[in-house]
Amino acid sequence: MAERIAEEKINEIREAVDIADVIGDYVQLKKQGRNYFGLCPFHGENSPSFSVSPDKQIYHCFGCGAGGNVFSFLMEIEGFSFQEAAIKLAERTNVQLDFDASATLRKKAIPEHFRQMVEAHELLRKFYHHLLVNTDEGQNALEYLTKRGFSKESIEKFQIGYALPSWEFVSNLLQKRGFSPEQMEKAGLIIQRERDDSYFDRFRNRIMFPIYDHQGNTIAFSGRALGDDEPKYLNSPETPIFNKSKILYRFNQARAAIRKQQHIVLFEGFADVIAADRAGVENGVATMGTSLTSEHITVLKKNAQTVTICYDSDNAGIEAAHRAALMLQEAGLIVKVAKMPDGLDPDDYIQTYGEEKFRNEVIHSSLTLMAFKLLYYRRGKNLQNEGDRLQYIEEVVDEIGRLDKAVERDFYLRQLADEFSLSLGALQQQLSQTARQKQPKTEERRSAPEMNTIPTPVIRQGTLKPAHYEAERRLISHMLRDSEVAYKVHEMLQGQTLNVDEHQAIITYLLGFYEKGHEPDLNGFLNYLEDNKLKRIVADIGMMTINEELSDQELNDYIKQVLKHQKMLKIKAKELEQKEAERQSDYLRAAAIAMEIIQLRKSL
Ligand code: GTP
Ligand code: MN
Repeated sequence: MAERIAEEKINEIREAVDIADVIGDYVQLKKQGRNYFGLCPFHGENSPSFSVSPDKQIYHCFGCGAGGNVFSFLMEIEGFSFQEAAIKLAERTNVQLDFDASATLRKKAIPEHFRQMVEAHELLRKFYHHLLVNTDEGQNALEYLTKRGFSKESIEKFQIGYALPSWEFVSNLLQKRGFSPEQMEKAGLIIQRERDDSYFDRFRNRIMFPIYDHQGNTIAFSGRALGDDEPKYLNSPETPIFNKSKILYRFNQARAAIRKQQHIVLFEGFADVIAADRAGVENGVATMGTSLTSEHITVLKKNAQTVTICYDSDNAGIEAAHRAALMLQEAGLIVKVAKMPDGLDPDDYIQTYGEEKFRNEVIHSSLTLMAFKLLYYRRGKNLQNEGDRLQYIEEVVDEIGRLDKAVERDFYLRQLADEFSLSLGALQQQLSQTARQKQPKTEERRSAPEMNTIPTPVIRQGTLKPAHYEAERRLISHMLRDSEVAYKVHEMLQGQTLNVDEHQAIITYLLGFYEKGHEPDLNGFLNYLEDNKLKRIVADIGMMTINEELSDQELNDYIKQVLKHQKMLKIKAKELEQKEAERQSDYLRAAAIAMEIIQLRKSL
């Protein structure tokens, strides 16, 4: 990135931002004493070892060692560079940067030679949106949307637009703006005529839904017919910037909510995502009219533990939900399936029954995967009919046999026995005959942490560290708070280094930091450090509670510990040397070395 962000701007951002607030977008945090605790977003865990200090503006995970300040948090969790993290935080805190930073941020994801394609999409998104909301030409389309329950806010938030019923408006506009027609055709926006090689618009007289990639670039459109025109939805074709099997509709916007709740709601259609969003479901995404792929699942799995499938409740929808459920379960996700009255899709449901009912009776009352399967097997069967009934029972017993937990198996068997007045013993027997029972289990399921109830933090395991190690950490901790102490320690070490290489590296950087005229500033120092490993260690040390005052006595003790360890190492080395000399029958040298060892021992 060409633009550099000035030091003062970075400071301005730091002043304005609150780390707990930023991390709170990704992690459910619970206050405990001065700090916040939560489940570490960098490694899977069920008890929180991730802590955030609002006083120090740093975070640290006792479990995996992740740590740093708000900048390094974003760098780590979003894969940002320092500049990108700074831009994101500037946006959040309304600190004005001198260049169009957000555009810089989005462009990153797209290779240079495809930028034009994205720029054309960005231009058209704004243009279509303007047509819809501000012009007479868009009036009809706007009325259609309003009638369907799309709110003004949704239209704004999802940047919905309208394409004119013209054959060449967009072709001409793009050419006037200097976009190459060949490239615009590759981008799927215009189409070349066979007869005279001229171009015409792909999208005409349609409601336009912009599609963003996972970084927020506009990369495609889906256009819905206003009436009964075919096709109902016309999508951009696959292009160098748009890959349907990877993209999830509105993932970029939903990411923060998804990570925070560790939960995704998966829909079939855009209209459903948008309606559900209006109902307060901010973690909803949809595939692009295609079925769920393993690439989608990779994205889902990286960001959440649980997926609720909320597909149409017609036959096709239920079949698709069943297929998706099995794939998601296979991938180790916790799967739930939302249930609606026959034939409705989520959008219809919200229109008919309202937003609150949708939240409470559909999303929050979604079925466990097993409960869904029971309904699934029931479809198309008449359970009054004996043949159907027996088939159903067999299918269900088979399914029960696949459950990992004995308690669960027992629960569903009893339920089945009750429903059909069967003896539990007979069912158990049938179950043990089911060969599939002994199937290899899929990956051990993570048990989902209950939402909002975060167990108390685990106390850091007291792996006993050697004295010099602790002494060095304490020294650094004081050096971070007081530059005088830093110089003093440097002097007292008399050219010796700390025993732990990383500790030595940290104090070298720290002295450099002070030399450059910086005041003691834990957070600023974290920005100054470039090495991730060192950042983590500094954050860890920063989290330590130490006495504000450092007495000379204490300081001397620490230095002694450090130097003592070095002498011990030296003694060990000398002892080896001595042995070697003896082995070579060089007794004179062995004796000389023995004298040295005695001197060293004395100085301890
Ligand atoms: P509305 O009818 O506007 O409420 O949309 P819907 O979301 O109810 O549509 P439906 O359930 O029919 O389709 C779900 C998704 O499938 C849509 O969001 C599109 O992505 C896709 N889709 C639907 N119809 C078509 C079509 O005719 N062509 C293509 N390519 N995709 C379609
Ligand atoms: Mn619909």
